[in-house]
Amino acid sequence: MARLKAEWVTEEGWEDAYEIFYRALKKLTNEGKERFFAGMTPEGTKKATKDRNVLYLVYRSSDPVPVAAIAFLKESSYHDYRELLKGVPEEKVATFNAIAVRPELWGQGYARQSLKLCVNHLKFTGVNTLVGTVHPDNVASIKTMEYASISGSLKMSAPFTWTTPRGRIFERRRFAFQI
Ligand SMILES: CC(C)(COP(=O)(O)OP(=O)(O)OC[C@H]1O[C@@H](n2cnc3c(N)ncnc32)[C@H](O)[C@@H]1OP(=O)(O)O)[C@@H](O)C(=O)NCCC(=O)NCCS
Repeated sequence: MARLKAEWVTEEGWEDAYEIFYRALKKLTNEGKERFFAGMTPEGTKKATKDRNVLYLVYRSSDPVPVAAIAFLKESSYHDYRELLKGVPEEKVATFNAIAVRPELWGQGYARQSLKLCVNHLKFTGVNTLVGTVHPDNVASIKTMEYASISGSLKMSAPFTWTTPRGRIFERRRFAFQI
C-alpha cells in the first residue's frame, strides 16, 4: 500500500470529491446496490454539506488524483443517537456523513487506511465519537468503521426504514463508534 496523506479541503476540493462520489454511485448503481448510498447522491452530499462540512481528500504520494473523499458534519442529530451514545457529551460527537473510494481501487484497503488517517486528524478538533447511518448490507462500510474505531466500540441500532423528503424509502441502521 502506497503511503497516504489526508488533506482537509474547502471550496476548491469539492470538484474532486464530487467526481469520486459520482463514480462510486455509478458503480454501485451498475451493481444494483445504489441503496447503499441512500440520500447520499453526490449532488445531495455537495449541497447539504458545503457550508457545515469537514471534507477530506486522501492522496497517494505519487498520484495527484485523490483516492478517497470522506465527509463529516461538525454537528450531529444528537438526540436520534442517544440510545447508542450513553452519555457522551454532545460537543464530542460529529456525524460521519459519507466515504467513497475511487471505484477502480476498491478492495485494496484504501477506505480503511483513509478513514483511519482522517479520524486521527479529527480527534485533534476534540471529537471522540462519530455517528451516522448505514445500509445493513453495506459490509465494506461497516468493516471500514470497525477498523477505524476503538476496538469493540462500534454500536449499531436495529434496522429501521427512513423516508426521504421525496418519499423514497431506505433501510438503515444508526451507528456510533469511538475514535
Ligand atoms: C465502502 C468503500 C468506501 C470501501 O472502500 P474499499 O477501499 O474498497 O475498502 P477496503 O479495501 O479498505 O476494505 C474495508 C473492509 O471491507 C471489506 N470489503 C471491501 N469490499 C467489500 C465487499 N464488496 N464486500 C464485503 N466486504 C468488503 C474488506 O475486506 C475490508 O474488511 P477487513 O477490514 O475485514 O479486511 C467503497 O466500497 C465505496 O466507495 N463504496 C461506495 C460508497 C459507499 O457505499 N460508501 C459508504 C456509505 S457512505
